[in-house]
Amino acid sequence: MADAGHDALDAFEQLAARRRTSLLLDGERPVPDDLVERLCRIATWAPNHKRTWPWRFAALTGDARRRLGEAVAAALVDDGADDHKVAKARTKYERSPTVLVVGCATDPDDERAAEDRDAVAAAVQTLLLAATAVGLASYWGTGRATTVPEVRTLCGFDATDRVVAVIYLGWPTAEVAVPERPPLRFRTVR
Ligand SMILES: Cc1cc2nc3c(=O)[nH]c(=O)nc-3n(C[C@H](O)[C@H](O)[C@H](O)COP(=O)(O)O)c2cc1C
Repeated sequence: MADAGHDALDAFEQLAARRRTSLLLDGERPVPDDLVERLCRIATWAPNHKRTWPWRFAALTGDARRRLGEAVAAALVDDGADDHKVAKARTKYERSPTVLVVGCATDPDDERAAEDRDAVAAAVQTLLLAATAVGLASYWGTGRATTVPEVRTLCGFDATDRVVAVIYLGWPTAEVAVPERPPLRFRTVR
């Protein structure tokens, strides 16, 4: 293979290393709907054993972000969470112009369900890299939002689907510190 491959790898490495989990974004500047949809379409190039296509995407903007917060806050009240945590959950999704919820189909077969979830995680990373490439800040969150049934309903997911990622997406206002990676655990075994 020609050495041009190294340039391509350098460019890809820089993209991968540049992706950060960041909430330093402009909550007032919208991310175009068609851009978000394109990111989701790119995400579906992730590998997927048995070609089950288990991913589901719901882009929440405008008032839908508030409704997401209300659903999570209500669940936290039921959990007996403290007032501060409840109040934060109620408004935190409005920090970014788009909150992209990524779901995964479930399967009665444990091995299939695990592989499908792995495929959705691969799709999420593909999406985050694409978002980075276009200059967007992103933040993969999980927490209580992933287990509230009303969140699945809000997103139009099936009751049996699972939420894998709640992704804040927006245009960056500043850069976050880089969490450096520890030494690579790698060996070649022959
Ligand atoms: C499955 C998964 C769930 C995550 N959930 C959260 C979360 O709920 N809150 C959070 O602050 N970060 C969350 N993160 C992001 C990590 O904290 C972040 O990737 C890590 O600190 C490394 O930073 P970097 O992504 O900028 O390299 C999650 C990451 C993954 C893969």
